[in-house]
Amino acid sequence: MSQTPPACKNPSLFERLQTYVVSTPANAECLDRAPFGVPIDHIVDPLRVEAGAFLDRLQRLDVVTFGPEGLPMDKWVAFDCAQLPGFTYGFCLPAAALEPRERAAFQLADDAEGIVPVSTYIAIPMFEDGTWFGHNLASLNRAFPWRGLHHLASITKAMALRAFGCTRFIGATQWLSSALHIHTRFGPLCLDTAYTPAHTKPETLTYSFAVTEDSLRAAMGDPAVKLERPAADLELDAEDIAGMKALQRDIEAGTAYMLVDRPRTVQGRIVHPIARIG
Ligand SMILES: CC(C)(COP(=O)(O)OP(=O)(O)OC[C@H]1O[C@@H](n2cnc3c(N)ncnc32)[C@H](O)[C@@H]1OP(=O)(O)O)[C@@H](O)C(=O)NCCC(=O)NCCS
Repeated sequence: MSQTPPACKNPSLFERLQTYVVSTPANAECLDRAPFGVPIDHIVDPLRVEAGAFLDRLQRLDVVTFGPEGLPMDKWVAFDCAQLPGFTYGFCLPAAALEPRERAAFQLADDAEGIVPVSTYIAIPMFEDGTWFGHNLASLNRAFPWRGLHHLASITKAMALRAFGCTRFIGATQWLSSALHIHTRFGPLCLDTAYTPAHTKPETLTYSFAVTEDSLRAAMGDPAVKLERPAADLELDAEDIAGMKALQRDIEAGTAYMLVDRPRTVQGRIVHPIARIG
């Protein structure tokens, strides 16, 4: 990519990597093809046979980033729930640019061609106009530390939300997930649930925020943007199920709460700062 990258924590990502979107031709009509002025280099159409190899590599990215304990998404789930209804955005490299240890991680032959994803962000449109549900985020920053990909997940999510035209965002994640360091970069998050039996893991929070120019730029690490964050009224231990249930009872009774910032570690425990809004 040769254009001026958006102000961010790791501008070299835009020099060294390419970008892709997985989208049907019909959905691609609604896509911003140059989010923050950065053109999308590859559009992968899941309805075409030639997409198969790249989509297999996306599934492999799941394994490489989530690790052996992770649960790679079945291809039919990705097709039904992500590729047909929504978009997948990320950064990628030509297969030929991968080092042997990186090719091995992706189980690629030495002469493999095409592109290989180094990050991915999947979101699915919701019924409300402009509202998207965040389905998956992955980055090779930690798996390939020699590549200098720091801040890749945060930048990928921000670029994706701009490309998708998202104005309100809803996500669900676990209180123990390190991805909350990334999600809270977009600003304070409204808590829609704090304890969620509908999910496989009830210790899940559902959160939402208004997607603004500032929220996206702050998440990318633009030093000129400073987001307002309310002061915390309480801290929730990430393993305190009774605390989650108490918050959930209050939310259902009409009290509004916000997760105001990233988690911190206190005496080996992860705690989250929470504000009571009304
Ligand atoms: C989690 C993941 C997306 C992070 O990707 P990444 O490119 O390293 O993320 P970023 O660099 O944008 O931001 C990570 C931030 O979280 C911080 N962080 C992450 N885990 C942390 C932890 N356990 N403790 C403290 N800080 C942590 C990092 O220090 C960094 O903040 P900093 O830049 O201020 O140092 C990546 O490791 C991954 O794909 N993991 C497996 C899949 C996953 O868990 N996805 C999220 C749920 S869908």
